[in-house]
Amino acid sequence: MSRKDYPVAPEDEELQAESAAETAEPTAAAPADEDGQPSTYMPERSLEEQAEEKSLRPTSFDDFIGQDQVVDNLRIAIQAALDRGGVLDHILLSGMPGLGKTSIAMLLGGEMGAGNTYVLSGPTLERGKDIVGTLTQLQRGDLLFIDEVHRMSAHTEEFLYSAMEDFRVDLIIDSGADSRSIPVDLKPFTLVGATTREGLLTAPLRSRFQIVEKLETYPPEELARILQRSAGLLGCDIELDACDVLASRSRGTPRFANRFLRRIRDVAQSRGEWKIGETIRIDSAAVMEGLERLGIDENGLDRVDRKILRTLFDNGGDAVGLKTLAATVGEAQRPLHEVYEPHLIREGLSTRTSRGRCATRKAAELYGDHTGQPSFV
Ligand SMILES: Nc1ncnc2c1ncn2[C@@H]1O[C@H](COP(=O)(O)OP(=O)(O)OP(=O)(O)O)[C@@H](O)[C@H]1O
Ligand SMILES: [Mg+2]
Repeated sequence: MSRKDYPVAPEDEELQAESAAETAEPTAAAPADEDGQPSTYMPERSLEEQAEEKSLRPTSFDDFIGQDQVVDNLRIAIQAALDRGGVLDHILLSGMPGLGKTSIAMLLGGEMGAGNTYVLSGPTLERGKDIVGTLTQLQRGDLLFIDEVHRMSAHTEEFLYSAMEDFRVDLIIDSGADSRSIPVDLKPFTLVGATTREGLLTAPLRSRFQIVEKLETYPPEELARILQRSAGLLGCDIELDACDVLASRSRGTPRFANRFLRRIRDVAQSRGEWKIGETIRIDSAAVMEGLERLGIDENGLDRVDRKILRTLFDNGGDAVGLKTLAATVGEAQRPLHEVYEPHLIREGLSTRTSRGRCATRKAAELYGDHTGQPSFV
């Protein structure tokens, strides 16, 4: 069965259409909200942030904090592959943006102690030849990391089926009546796929990953440990209380925790008597000021979260579809669906039904300043 035979949910179709548009055009700068502020949780990152993220990335499992079950399972798989003298099984890592999928993918090579890691991005893989060139240059034991693996074209994906299963690709040469398929053997390699939308993966692709691990949001204690580590790497010293507050407002996601930490470091640096070469001390006052500047409230919600809730309130309790919500809030559907909504649902502030999203009574109690009479679920 080929990839196109698998149906997708209507909402996923909306997102896929949006993915196609994103692929066709260069990514626009992050939209700013009505206050002229970029939204805090946009997945798009500036080059500077990407570079800083890289410097904070754990480089071994010993550095990687939390996700104990995932790390344990991967350690066992690595040890088993090493004991067999074989190649690590194909691994699929899923989970919301910023939870550490790329970090894990990039440290696997070091943990295996052999091979190179090649990196490709799903949305750039449109034609078979985009991937065949890389597949044929892989050496035994190399890792091929495909980020956003659910966003490859169907054509590319079909090349991967035999590559993953039999370490072989069928190259088509010539066209029309002369076209022939030539099988080319590949060296055994490990495919590591990362996805924020496991549900969008087709069944044939998903079934070819022998190891499937899902990353969950981090409890505040683990985020606090991640923040302490990052603070050290950034030349800061963060007080324990301040660290706990920051961890509890970072929606369980290391990327946001680190992003806030960097901004708060700037605040602390500008407040204190800091001199070049000295450690920057971060106390609770700096954290509170930094969070306020970032628009993060005491429940960890930012401006966009609050705008989403306002839109839901204004709809008088009727469910709101993703498209309408995106248009009203002025955000792309993807971050709304992948970042904002899961957090609001986890916090019990919104619910999702087949008709769309609704605000909850808890949201109305915390944020409802409307005068209408919506019927909250
Ligand atoms: N368990 C962890 N311990 C320490 N730092 C972490 C951990 N997980 C993530 N980070 C930090 O968070 C940043 C974001 O992680 P990463 O890029 O791996 O997320 P991701 O899941 O690949 O996100 P996306 O889906 O957007 O690609 C990393 O630069 C790293 O500094
Ligand atoms: Mg990533």
